[in-house]
Amino acid sequence: MLDTRLNMIYDLIPQSGLICDIGADHCKLAIHAVKQGKTKYALATDLRRGPLEASARNVSANSLSDRIRLLQSDGFLNIPADIFDHTDCFVIAGMGGQVIQGILEGRHTDKWLVLQPMNAVYELCEYLADAGYDIKKRVFCRDADKFYTAIICRHDGKKRNVSYFAGAVRDVNFSMFLEKELNRIQTALHGISLARSPDMLQKQRLEHLRIILLEEKNNES
Ligand SMILES: C[S@@+](CC[C@H](N)C(=O)[O-])C[C@H]1O[C@@H](n2cnc3c(N)ncnc32)[C@H](O)[C@@H]1O
Repeated sequence: MLDTRLNMIYDLIPQSGLICDIGADHCKLAIHAVKQGKTKYALATDLRRGPLEASARNVSANSLSDRIRLLQSDGFLNIPADIFDHTDCFVIAGMGGQVIQGILEGRHTDKWLVLQPMNAVYELCEYLADAGYDIKKRVFCRDADKFYTAIICRHDGKKRNVSYFAGAVRDVNFSMFLEKELNRIQTALHGISLARSPDMLQKQRLEHLRIILLEEKNNES
């Protein structure tokens, strides 16, 4: 069983022959995807040895060692070319938006990308729009008191103007995400207003984001 966040990510993954989960940690997603028949094979990578050892135990406990390969790799770096080229979908989840951007910048791919940034989501959307990725769908979920969002996109080389909510499924989770984001920005702006030497660039970015969120909220009502 996956938790709500991993389930949201899982639902975005298209039917595949081979998926590659970058930063797989426990490998739960790849194990579930193979067991459910969403993919025949999976490559699960991680930067660190500890998570890979945990993954190896989980893969072995599920008797999936012949279907799931584990690899220590910083982003796409150590993935052999034949596996990279045969991958249908890369998943990069549970990391900061900047880390995800750094991984995408490391090696070009035009395969499906399922991305689940934990922060800097607007900045990641800016990067994706500028670097020619088409966001096909963006979903939201709530798990306990935390909100998460995930994106499925694909490179087509066309530069776009950033659209924070491109492809967004505007459901009840979306509304709650908007509310939570507005509160977060409000608190951050208040903090900046109290600072002795306020970060004016950050203030500008937050105010811009606040306008986008308020427009979305107005569209809702
Ligand atoms: C918070 S866990 C998320 C695990 C899983 N993807 C999920 O969403 O539940 C982040 C994992 O990404 C790994 N990681 C961080 N930066 C990485 C990178 N550049 N390349 C590969 N793995 C990375 C960390 O070692 C950690 O195991």
